Amino acid sequence: MVTLSVSTSPLSTAEVDVVAVGAFAPPQPTPDGDGDTPRVTGTGRAVELAADADDVADAMALDLEGELRAMGFDGSVGAIAKVPTRRSVRASVIVVVGLGDRARADTATLRTAAASVANACERSTRVATGLHTVLDVEAERAAQAVGEGLLLGSYRFTNYRSDPAAFDLEEVVLHARPEAESAVRRGVEVAQVVAGATNLARDLVNLPPQDKRPPAFADRVVAMFEGLDVTATVLDEDALRDGGYGGILGVGQGSSAPPRLVELRYAPRGAERHVALVGKGITFDSGGLSLKPSVSMETMKSDMAGAAAVCATLRAVAELGLPVAVTAVLAVAENLPSGTATRVSDVLTMKDGTTVEVINTDAEGRLVLGDGLVHARELGPDVIIDVATLTGAAVVALGDRMSVVIANDDGFAAQLVAAGRRSGEPLWPLPLAKDEYGQRVEGHIADLRNTGGRPAGAIFGALFLHRFVGDEIAWAHLDIAGPAWAAEPWGVFGKGATGVPTRTLTEWIRRFAEPPTADTIQPHDLPTPPSHAPV
Ligand code: BES
Ligand code: MN
Ligand code: ZN
Repeated sequence: MVTLSVSTSPLSTAEVDVVAVGAFAPPQPTPDGDGDTPRVTGTGRAVELAADADDVADAMALDLEGELRAMGFDGSVGAIAKVPTRRSVRASVIVVVGLGDRARADTATLRTAAASVANACERSTRVATGLHTVLDVEAERAAQAVGEGLLLGSYRFTNYRSDPAAFDLEEVVLHARPEAESAVRRGVEVAQVVAGATNLARDLVNLPPQDKRPPAFADRVVAMFEGLDVTATVLDEDALRDGGYGGILGVGQGSSAPPRLVELRYAPRGAERHVALVGKGITFDSGGLSLKPSVSMETMKSDMAGAAAVCATLRAVAELGLPVAVTAVLAVAENLPSGTATRVSDVLTMKDGTTVEVINTDAEGRLVLGDGLVHARELGPDVIIDVATLTGAAVVALGDRMSVVIANDDGFAAQLVAAGRRSGEPLWPLPLAKDEYGQRVEGHIADLRNTGGRPAGAIFGALFLHRFVGDEIAWAHLDIAGPAWAAEPWGVFGKGATGVPTRTLTEWIRRFAEPPTADTIQPHDLPTPPSHAPV
């Protein structure tokens, strides 16, 4: 991972190869061409240098604005211009990154811009930047966003390349005013933990499915927690049978590699609250006997992205030493067709005794998660969040850049949406719609059926899971089928695994862990029990 460090010397004196600075897009002309619109000369409208760029340009006696205009640089978010310094300073190149419209720039802009800088500097060894200083936002949050962008943007997965492309970036120095130094250092430390955990989740998801079959996946996950204050328990196939985990066993029985349930527990002394996270860990989803078409199978090694994100979150929480207990429950199986696979119409008995008729073996996520949720509920947590690449319907609804959140408590869903926005991982709520569609999960032969036709598929998935949680406990279900995998680069992501929603979960848990205070009760309080107040 790229090293981040902090310096209080002026940016223009940095002993580095590249200095990276920001520039805002030109103010938009008003349509009616009123008198305030500046006159433009040259090839384009002038971008507006951010404060860090201004300082550097002054120190170098360089007409940076003029250079950028001549290059036709538009300042859109993440756009890059490389301007040679002609050796007026130690750095040989100024990398200017676009920040878009000044009025709309926020920490998400900084994160994206920083990722763009990391990509533009992949052949430079040392880079200095002041990007975290250009917006009027709290120094710690700005430094965290820039740090995350740099670390997420420089992520590469080259383990399986015989000749990996060179990536030379080793260190980025964030230059801070002395009075902001400690805040910037804190932001950088959080970024290292959060982005480091996210990149670990991405590694697990990018891993080829032959190297993460359930027993190997469980071992690899447990190994990630060596040296941390986390207790790991792995249930193998015998333990799953003894415990009555019929959902996990039923999904895994078509594979020669048996399923696993991994429980990871972080319980610092004095913790008053307990969060349970449950992750879908299908290491490869062929669909089983209800076989997927070939094209749909191409990204199905990522069907364990929920499990990867919840264990990455637990790692971040443990590394940050947050004063809250967190348990991650990973339901791990490989969904393959074979002579031992679950048949269509087979009935499975889940851990809580509920029977399920398997109408479609490709609706396997809800079967492993049902058992995972019952396991989590029995630990007596205050809240449960499950994370799953559950339905193609979630992708139809919100596309591949937003996750679906469905909760039994609207306030809880709203908190997760807010945490997602702060983290740059958009989520949006869909209703649980118990009154409207709750009946559809009722079975004919067994208590429940695992599919209910095409309409409202993401909601059906949540309604099925809800039967294993109930309303006594605050619960949210995150369907990450879209954003778990980036088909093409976007935002801070290159093509491949994104690690979503590791950052959102860590951000939400950080707030949840803080002791509530009188004037900030809202974002910190326990999600209220579900309300069914008449309207
Ligand atoms: N893992 C898939 C969902 C998925 C689809 C994830 C696209 C990522 C991208 C899940 O197990 C699945 O196959 N769901 C079925 C459910 C259906 C049979 C009710 C689906 O969405 O088609
Ligand atoms: Mn499936
Ligand atoms: Zn699946």
